[in-house]
Amino acid sequence: MNRVQEIRKERNITQVQLAKYAGISRKYLSNVENQLANPSVDVAFRISTALSVDIDKIFFDVPKPNITVYPKPLRYIDLFCGIGGFRYASKGAFDKLGINGKCVFSSDIDKYAQQAYEANFGEKPVGDITKVDAESIPDFDLLFGGFPCQAFSICGLMKGFEDKTRGTLFFDIARIIKEKQPQAFVLENVKNLASHDGGKTLQTILETLRDELGYHVDYHLLNALDFGLPQKRERIIIVGSKKPFKMDWNFEIKNKKTLNDILEKKVDPKHYASPEIVAKRKAMHTAKVFPSIWHENKSGNISSYPYSCALRAGASYNYLLVNGERRLTPREMLRLQGFPDDFKIVVSDCQTRKQAGNAIPVDMVKMVIERFIPMAF
Ligand SMILES: C[S@@+](CC[C@H](N)C(=O)[O-])C[C@H]1O[C@@H](n2cnc3c(N)ncnc32)[C@H](O)[C@@H]1O
Repeated sequence: MNRVQEIRKERNITQVQLAKYAGISRKYLSNVENQLANPSVDVAFRISTALSVDIDKIFFDVPKPNITVYPKPLRYIDLFCGIGGFRYASKGAFDKLGINGKCVFSSDIDKYAQQAYEANFGEKPVGDITKVDAESIPDFDLLFGGFPCQAFSICGLMKGFEDKTRGTLFFDIARIIKEKQPQAFVLENVKNLASHDGGKTLQTILETLRDELGYHVDYHLLNALDFGLPQKRERIIIVGSKKPFKMDWNFEIKNKKTLNDILEKKVDPKHYASPEIVAKRKAMHTAKVFPSIWHENKSGNISSYPYSCALRAGASYNYLLVNGERRLTPREMLRLQGFPDDFKIVVSDCQTRKQAGNAIPVDMVKMVIERFIPMAF
């Protein structure tokens, strides 16, 4: 099993180019990529040199999940924890895998997120991660982090991630991984990460994790809609482990939630839009399905779907309207992200909306963790 195709695509190199650099025919390279040919050590070395990746990160045997031994407990840290999406997702996955998971450190700079996290998990997250000395963090096996997408100011002479990523929040993830050497990590980011700064941002992140920190890394764009949540929310998930692994990103979901499962039956009148806004919307659009969520885009066009468009932390209040009439309630927004109904809402509606808009789709990340962890340990 090899990962030539995946890494070649990440590097934006064509088969013709790679074949030329490695001194082999395109046909042979195609066979290697399709797992139809096992290259000699010499050819494997030339391919990995052409891709600037260690040979063992491209060519390896898939580990067998049945020899997995988990640490007891499996200690994790929850960076940029928000209201604990990773915490719920990992709990669901750990329970399925029979793992005893223990959160040993959490961090979020936002005081309302800290309040919500403490009310629900009994721990107040530490504040600004940029001020936390990595050595002071307790030892852990697994790192979770949904970090903001920021450009790196890379210039020609810069060497190493310390230079390339300093001043960004990814730098803090990298320096903590470097110091604490966890077995594995799961990171989350917006879809735009892949195209951000012409692809350089994602490339620097992958190179840092893979080439500088020494992890086997894979990533994929996933959509919450494909994981049984009625929300179109596309996110990049990056997974990494000290152990080689081959992640299958195709998931089959049996029980899908519909809008009917999410929407509250009794809704406080305060969530309804003004009669003027409702009339304006209805004059512009007629929905083909019921219930539906009406979405107003930046140009003022209205469309409606039997699911929600992505919840956003900083979006205007009326951009999503249930049946063109009312805003989603905070509980409905949390449900759209897969948060259970026993999640305690302890801050204002406005803050809860923001928190839900920032969170990860729990059901989606749970499935990823459940599949990844047995390969990573
Ligand atoms: C995309 S959200 C992550 C949400 C989380 N995954 C969840 O499920 O709720 C990013 C979080 O990073 C936090 N954040 C931003 N800068 C930070 C910093 N310097 N230190 C710690 N947290 C920070 C924000 O407050 C926000 O809650």
